[in-house]
Amino acid sequence: MFIHISITEIFNRALLNILVLVLTGNPGVGKHTVSRKLAEILGYEIVDVNKEAVKVGTAKQNDSIDVDVEKTKKMLKEKISEKSLIVGHLAPFVVSKELISMAIVLRKNPYDLIQIYEKRNYSDSKKNDNLGSEILGVIAYDSIEKFGEEKTFQINTTSLTVEEITKKIEGIINGTSKGDAVDWLADITKKNDLRKFFPD
Ligand SMILES: Nc1ncnc2c1ncn2[C@@H]1O[C@H](COP(=O)(O)OP(=O)(O)O)[C@@H](O)[C@H]1O
Ligand SMILES: [Mg+2]
Repeated sequence: MFIHISITEIFNRALLNILVLVLTGNPGVGKHTVSRKLAEILGYEIVDVNKEAVKVGTAKQNDSIDVDVEKTKKMLKEKISEKSLIVGHLAPFVVSKELISMAIVLRKNPYDLIQIYEKRNYSDSKKNDNLGSEILGVIAYDSIEKFGEEKTFQINTTSLTVEEITKKIEGIINGTSKGDAVDWLADITKKNDLRKFFPD
């Protein structure tokens, strides 16, 4: 007996069923907001890296946790299914390349990001660390190192609504978009704001 199934159909099924997505980026870029929308639209189940890390991590006195990378890796491996949307800035360190289809790195203009950090009452050092990371594209770099250039896509979320960001992600998933090129360092250098973001 033959079952007739077209190549397109196979690809569509592959896209719909076996698509494990990583959504990463610095704190405040919109990961959790966007992931809720994506989960709603695509029916994905959110796997929150921070929450899993907390379960196996060690609480520190200053309200943060020491992440046990090996334990978190193991925990996540068991949690990830073909319907997973893995969310978190630590994703490149605790998720294996073979487990995922693509990684999307959300980026946000540092001038907007600083306002989010102020609202969150981040300390100066936490603010500067995360702004520096965003400006230099550290998480995008980590994602490329870990998941490969072919699996890593960036989105500039600056001034976009959650719906617009979700549309862009769908474009990347269905192969019609390669994402955005982002270079905040060039932007802040042009504006003579290097010292504002990298005080000594
Ligand atoms: N597209 C957007 N437009 C405007 N505000 C947004 C957008 N996405 C997220 N926000 C707001 O920005 C802040 C950070 O978003 P959040 O999803 O918590 O980021 P993350 O999970 O990356 O830390 C929140 O206050 C959220 O309401
Ligand atoms: Mg968050």
